[in-house]
Amino acid sequence: MSVKVVLGALWGDEGKAKIVDFLAQDIDAIVRFQGGCNAGHTVVHNDNKIVMHMVPVGILQPEVKAIIGNGVVIDPIQLKKELEELKEQGVNTKNRLYISSTAHITLPLHLFLDAYKEKQKGKEAIGTTKKGIGPTYTDKASRIGIRMSDLLHPQYFQNRVLNLIRQNEDKLGAWLKKNDVDKMINNLLEIGKELEPLITDTPYLINDMIKDGKNVIFEGAQGTLLDIDFGTYPFVTSSNPSIGGAITGSGVSPQKIEQTIGIFKSYITRVGKGPFPTEMEEETAQEIRKKGNEFGATTGRPRRCGWFDAVLGKYSVMVNGFDSIAISLLDVLTNTDKIKICTSYQYNKEELLRIPQEQQLFSKIKPNYIELPGWKENITDIREFDDLPKNARNYVYKIEELLAVDVKWISVGPNRKQTIVR
Ligand code: GDP
Ligand code: IMO
Ligand code: MG
Repeated sequence: MSVKVVLGALWGDEGKAKIVDFLAQDIDAIVRFQGGCNAGHTVVHNDNKIVMHMVPVGILQPEVKAIIGNGVVIDPIQLKKELEELKEQGVNTKNRLYISSTAHITLPLHLFLDAYKEKQKGKEAIGTTKKGIGPTYTDKASRIGIRMSDLLHPQYFQNRVLNLIRQNEDKLGAWLKKNDVDKMINNLLEIGKELEPLITDTPYLINDMIKDGKNVIFEGAQGTLLDIDFGTYPFVTSSNPSIGGAITGSGVSPQKIEQTIGIFKSYITRVGKGPFPTEMEEETAQEIRKKGNEFGATTGRPRRCGWFDAVLGKYSVMVNGFDSIAISLLDVLTNTDKIKICTSYQYNKEELLRIPQEQQLFSKIKPNYIELPGWKENITDIREFDDLPKNARNYVYKIEELLAVDVKWISVGPNRKQTIVR
């Protein structure tokens, strides 16, 4: 039996899906526990690129059970589309996809509210994915949210939706003018009927599997620096992508987790606004963006690019207690003459070895870098660590030393097989 949690260590898009897909080859079940359609998890399956948003990546393995846990927010309309796309790709999800009865629902009006709130914020906008994530979690916390099981009780569902609309009425004027509420409710109830066989009490399901000695992976979305508690608030998402989310979003006790794995990119990217101490100057960023195809998997936005930041890295290792980590997209750094790693921050005359908890400070600090020599050899076909160019190995050793954690996987390309295991 093994229970592993795989988490994004930075600001999301660390290549989690690629590593999860690699690790999922010998598992029984996979669980998503937070986030929703904001996630864009890219895998290459039978030479096709597939981007998953709500369905756990493990569904691509024929026998694996895929579970959408209670902490995920589900947009039923998008989920239906995602399932249709999977079918088109030849992935049969029948009898092995399960949806938590207590997962909250993102309604079309949450998407409107997301865009509306961003507009209201003006210059302070977060740059959300506009998938309704913040408003759905807001309504969950306000205890006016709607859950998957509510879809199975038409009258109750209708009452809840009408109540939710009433509570948000001051902001929904334009939406209400353009949309027919009854039509929306009926459409969702129809989808609810289709999803009914999948809706179940996932805390029991997951715990029973663990009790039966099954191999289970928990697939995180977003990343620790986007965590509503531990991230760069307010420029964060509305859930806990760090380790705590795996527990509250699934109903599994922390004692059951045997391994926590952090996914780092060999550099850093961020989409949306907020502080980013090691952000590269635009010319270098453009090169990396081109080589790494750094455009949002969900929104298509160009990702901001920066150098590896060991201060953030150490913080992420501490908060999550990573047992080991993976470094992805190492191939993208090929042909970079000098590779920088941030080892501390400078705030006026003071050197900081920890990330500032006040956000006002965060945008004022400057990174202190060390520089490592790069390599020119193509590494995308390398499968053994010892076959990597010396400078690539040294880069990995340096990250290991700075973060004081083992680098167990190195990804050198988007395909499952382009993975080095140490
Ligand atoms: P996730 O959200 O963390 O799962 O990551 P995304 O799917 O949003 O972004 C990662 C991108 O990098 C995707 O386009 C992947 O196909 C790609 N990718 C993953 N690992 C590697 C790698 O080692 N090398 C290269 N070149 N691309 C990779
Ligand atoms: P995966 O799982 C990268 C970012 C948005 C924005 C902030 C809040 O693919 O790594 P939200 O829509 O969640 O309210 O947006 O969080 N964000 C992501 N960035 N990867 C993601 O998911 C993200 N999900 C949200 O860009 O800055
Ligand atoms: Mg992504």
